Amino acid sequence: MNHTPVLLNEVIAAIAPAPGMRVVDATFGAGGYTRAITARGAEVLGIDQDPHVIANAEVPNGAQLAHGKFGDLANIAQVKNFTPVDGVVFDIGVSSMQLDQAERGFSFMHDGPLDMRMSQAGQSAADVVNSFREEDIANIIYQYGEEPQSRKIARYITRAREEVRIETTAQLAEIVARAVRGKPGQHPATRTFQALRIYVNDELAQLQAGLEAATSILKPGGKLVVVTFHSLEDRI
Ligand SMILES: C[S@@+](CC[C@H](N)C(=O)[O-])C[C@H]1O[C@@H](n2cnc3c(N)ncnc32)[C@H](O)[C@@H]1O
Repeated sequence: MNHTPVLLNEVIAAIAPAPGMRVVDATFGAGGYTRAITARGAEVLGIDQDPHVIANAEVPNGAQLAHGKFGDLANIAQVKNFTPVDGVVFDIGVSSMQLDQAERGFSFMHDGPLDMRMSQAGQSAADVVNSFREEDIANIIYQYGEEPQSRKIARYITRAREEVRIETTAQLAEIVARAVRGKPGQHPATRTFQALRIYVNDELAQLQAGLEAATSILKPGGKLVVVTFHSLEDRI
């Protein structure tokens, strides 16, 4: 699986993995952090909520992998006898594998079913745009996409779905592009797609639950490292 780990040197410098240490990689993805941490002699418990990640993972020596969400982190570590820990790392967001697979429906760059569920369970983005009230869609786009024209976009979405169900990323991108221009250099649907992804995956509540779970299993003086590129996440 292909994903270039971001800020890898910074994460390794912060955790300072060494033999005898235990570290939870709460966002295993393609295993970039896990590989770097085990290569320095620490043990890793990797976690990911995406069944596709679990099924295709290459797990290095010194690591084990579990399927679960941030909120399950402490339970998983306890069941695996992997507590207390010296470090926990979160690399928030979607991986490039998830973004690049059209059938996962995360991106307006690749036409595919409008899905966006990292866990492949629960409500999809298509369920949201086809069944939620206009006002609720507008609130999601405003709150999680910080999109000033959220009401107009929601109006275009609810009008379009009266004609035909919105099933694909290309359909939604085209509806949003009809409603708004977007910032120069940015696709008009960028904020709407981000908002739906955050909502569908309950990302902010998950991060909150993950941080609480992580602090509950850290040794005194243990390291909690969070890699995030999003102002909404920074505020948590
Ligand atoms: C940015 S990628 C991590 C990439 C990883 N650091 C690497 O080097 O390959 C984020 C991963 O975290 C997973 N993820 C996101 N939110 C999660 C959550 N709430 N619980 C568990 N896994 C989550 C995603 O499925 C994705 O595989």
